[in-house]
Amino acid sequence: MIFAVTEIVVVHYPGERAENWVLLRKAARARAVRLVSWAPHLLGFWCADGQQSVSYAGKTARPGIVIHRTVAPFRGIVVPALARLAAEGSRVLNDPEAAFRSRDKLLTTTDLARAGVPVVPTLAFDEPDGVNLAALGQAELILKPARGVRGEGVAAFRSAAALSAACQRRGPRPEVSGYCAEREHYLAQPLVAGGGQDIRAYVVDRSCVALMRRVAKPGEVRANLALGATASPLALDHPAAAVAVAALTACRLDFGGVDMVEDGDGVIRVLEVDAWAGFAGITRVTGTDVAGVLLDFATAPDEGRAAVPDEGRAAVPEGEDAAG
Ligand SMILES: Nc1ncnc2c1ncn2[C@@H]1O[C@H](COP(=O)(O)OP(=O)(O)OP(=O)(O)O)[C@@H](O)[C@H]1O
Ligand SMILES: [Mg+2]
Repeated sequence: MIFAVTEIVVVHYPGERAENWVLLRKAARARAVRLVSWAPHLLGFWCADGQQSVSYAGKTARPGIVIHRTVAPFRGIVVPALARLAAEGSRVLNDPEAAFRSRDKLLTTTDLARAGVPVVPTLAFDEPDGVNLAALGQAELILKPARGVRGEGVAAFRSAAALSAACQRRGPRPEVSGYCAEREHYLAQPLVAGGGQDIRAYVVDRSCVALMRRVAKPGEVRANLALGATASPLALDHPAAAVAVAALTACRLDFGGVDMVEDGDGVIRVLEVDAWAGFAGITRVTGTDVAGVLLDFATAPDEGRAAVPDEGRAAVPEGEDAAG
């Protein structure tokens, strides 16, 4: 009896945040799904009059299904390459442009606000002198890099003056000619409910599949598990579930993680949406097989979208085969 094996190309580095990859491989084994790893730095793009195509490791590629993770440093090649594959009929989960956009908390906050999803009042700047921090009120404030992860560079301050004093002044762009790497920009927000706890959701295909409350270790305002927070599952009928689903929709994403805080009036406000959020922690805490749900979504017939005709799909150049 021959089982049709569905193949999914995963553009990523297996060793990065490997606990998520281990879960994906386990879920793939249980579903006769073959995962093929493509290293982001081996993606290529050909463009000439009337011609455009994507290559992997030097070979033209047109995979059926593509998932991407750990590709944040490779925007320049990943976005056009995956957008091209999608245009050619590959099923690319999480539009790459939307995924990179969600990595920037300022862009996410503007998208959420535009969609009417509750956000935390936010001041964004290159340097704090660019804004009036007093607009955030007298309460404690939190400062974060717009594209930070895992709580890195996130710090709380008793006052606007203390926050401003802590910010490095980089001044105008140094007089260097030619290429200049992008500078990070920053967000300042009121520290909602004194910080130290939040709600993390994982959403797949417009449904919240896992939800947990995270509580930071004493003296810490950041409730990231990576920073020693503890967590407990929340029922999926908790109001935060619907807010998380609305947030993914506002960010045009198929799946991802959502961080939220509950303010003093009980309003659930979104801190960030992350297309590349890890799911190992929430899987452990809630027992939900997030990786399995993700693969079921990836391999589900895609209403309204013609399947990629076999003859149209070039054989998938071998990446690192992680046979289920
Ligand atoms: N305005 C705020 N009010 C209260 N707590 C906050 C606020 N902003 C951030 N936090 C806390 O700090 C943590 C880290 O902040 P945030 O999620 O914005 O940054 P991050 O570095 O992107 O984290 P991640 O690892 O989720 O990508 C949050 O999970 C939350 O516990
Ligand atoms: Mg976060």
